Amino acid sequence: MQPRVFPAMYWFITFIAMIFLCGSTLVFANDDEKYVNCGNLFDCGDIKGVGYPFSGSDTPDYCGHPELKLDCSDQDPEITIQKLTYKVLGINSQSRNLSVARKDHAENNICPTLLLNTTWIPNILNYTPDDQNITIYYGCSTQGAPALKYSSQFPCNINNTEMTGYFTAVSNLSEFGSSASNLISYLASCKDSIEVPVRQSALAKILITPTVTQLLEGLNEGFDFVWSANDASCETCQLSGGKCGYNQATAAFSCYCKDGPRESSCPQSPTAAPSPTAAPPTSMSPCLLLFFSAGVTLEVNRKTA
Ligand SMILES: *[C@@H]1O[C@H](CO)[C@@H](O)[C@H](O)[C@H]1NC(C)=O
Ligand SMILES: *[C@@H]1O[C@H](CO)[C@@H](O)[C@H](O)[C@H]1NC(C)=O
Ligand SMILES: *[C@@H]1O[C@H](CO)[C@@H](O)[C@H](O)[C@H]1NC(C)=O
Ligand SMILES: *[C@@H]1O[C@H](CO)[C@@H](O)[C@H](O)[C@H]1NC(C)=O
Ligand SMILES: *[C@@H]1O[C@H](CO)[C@@H](O)[C@H](O)[C@H]1NC(C)=O
Repeated sequence: MQPRVFPAMYWFITFIAMIFLCGSTLVFANDDEKYVNCGNLFDCGDIKGVGYPFSGSDTPDYCGHPELKLDCSDQDPEITIQKLTYKVLGINSQSRNLSVARKDHAENNICPTLLLNTTWIPNILNYTPDDQNITIYYGCSTQGAPALKYSSQFPCNINNTEMTGYFTAVSNLSEFGSSASNLISYLASCKDSIEVPVRQSALAKILITPTVTQLLEGLNEGFDFVWSANDASCETCQLSGGKCGYNQATAAFSCYCKDGPRESSCPQSPTAAPSPTAAPPTSMSPCLLLFFSAGVTLEVNRKTA
């Protein structure tokens, strides 16, 4: 004897499957995948509500500029610009302001293994007028460093080699005239140098107390980049109902519309530009088919039971 449990269960499973299939078919059938995936603000570690031109977390690369990909795997988000990794301290979409601190100087390390100049991306990520350069020298001669205001000598151990470092918060030593000429020739003997930006407020403190501790404090407070990544195009795109993104193949901005990507903006109304993909009956057919077959199967089951 066949109990009525089987058709009931069948109905239940079919119903769940229908919710899934029909639901997703109805909502997404006509929408371009990139349109669906981009344009949502995402959280990256402790930083909330990030959007274009950044990608990261569950937001695919094509939603942002290829050079502005955030690593959100940690509580402290990171961005790598060329070979140098930075901790991301803040993102301000209004002022297009990305605050970062070099990761290699975190944990109070003024003597990193790899000596790299601070990087930026011309025309896309630039320094702001608030950023002030400090030059740090490495592999200098241990003897005979002339003392100069706003400058300091410090010991370094890199790759198990003891060396002498030197930094100066003076941006143009020549302005010090003859009192700096000895220092200029001393610094010429140093093997390496790097430029590190600090904010004006941090520079002021370093000028008062030119110690490595004070310098590291300034470095960890970070500095700001200002970004510019097709911002006007993105605004135009968004106003037309699109989502901003980037086409890596053509290395250009892309506006993702419901029916596919465009160069700059979406067609004003759906009727103005009929799209070949807009075909609700076809996209809904798996759903209807399921409905139909469910009904038939149930009917057959009921009669045979
Ligand atoms: C950028 O943001 C930081 C904080 O995240 C702020 O201290 C700084 O003043 C801002 N700079 C600009 C140019 O808006
Ligand atoms: C330390 O060693 C690494 C690996 O050999 C090398 O790439 C790096 O340049 C060295 N650092 C310095 C300051 O010499
Ligand atoms: C700091 O150095 C960078 C790179 O060398 C340069 O582009 C920038 O103009 C400098 N900033 C200042 C305030 O001198
Ligand atoms: C540095 O200062 C000297 C003397 O004031 C000046 O001649 C020179 O142009 C300055 N260099 C830079 C890069 O500003
Ligand atoms: C950093 O840049 C300065 C001048 O901008 C250059 O003299 C120095 O060699 C560079 N340092 C490294 C490690 O590339």
